[in-house]
Amino acid sequence: MQLFALLPVLAAFVASSSAITVGASGAIECQSETVVSETFIGKGKDVQMTHSHCETSTSKVAANDVVAVPDAPVNNVCSASCNTFCFSPSGGGPNEDDCKVIADAILYDGENESATFNATAAGTAADKITMKYHSCTTYFLNQNATATLTYCRQDWASLVTWLSGDCNSANNAHGGLCVAADQQWYVQVQNSR
Ligand SMILES: *[C@@H]1O[C@H](CO)[C@@H](O)[C@H](O)[C@H]1NC(C)=O
Ligand SMILES: *[C@@H]1O[C@H](CO)[C@@H](O)[C@H](O)[C@H]1NC(C)=O
Ligand SMILES: *[C@@H]1O[C@H](CO)[C@@H](O)[C@H](O)[C@H]1NC(C)=O
Repeated sequence: MQLFALLPVLAAFVASSSAITVGASGAIECQSETVVSETFIGKGKDVQMTHSHCETSTSKVAANDVVAVPDAPVNNVCSASCNTFCFSPSGGGPNEDDCKVIADAILYDGENESATFNATAAGTAADKITMKYHSCTTYFLNQNATATLTYCRQDWASLVTWLSGDCNSANNAHGGLCVAADQQWYVQVQNSR
């Protein structure tokens, strides 16, 4: 079983690495996606939040592996380090102001709902959490098939701000992602589809 579907893609990125690599690939897509819930968050309730299952093209997770184990371990990955990769070329990326609305909504929820959120194990119904506002979409994806991940909203908001700025058109990019050093998760910022 292949735990980390993203690995081959990242190996390609890393091969042409510098501190902030502008990779040749575009945003990473789910092969198929099954939505389990949709709601609106933030002060203005204008940022769409979706919980879904992301089927990745290279995933080898078998049916008997994807059963949500009720007492699966929970890994808190708040403030874990991650490596940034931007998508080249420039053009067609999200509007930074739209991404800021998302970052603010995540911070709002972090203060007024709960500081953390959970993404269930890779292969289960809510392994992907997406936030969307106008041109900007960001998501958190759990890549660990055996654990729920707990992540801090404040960290996600920081990554949205960081990625939308550092991977903008002025930097010859149109979005990017930050993948955990241990590859258990990544956060992507991209244009809305
Ligand atoms: C939490 O909600 C209060 C009341 O709506 C608001 O004033 C405050 O700014 C919110 N916190 C954040 C971080 O947005
Ligand atoms: C995350 O999951 C753990 C274990 O099931 C639970 O104790 C915790 O309340 C959950 N946190 C949130 C924010 O839902
Ligand atoms: C996935 O989570 C399990 C359970 O906490 C942990 O033992 C394992 O190391 C994690 N996988 C990786 C590669 O971090």
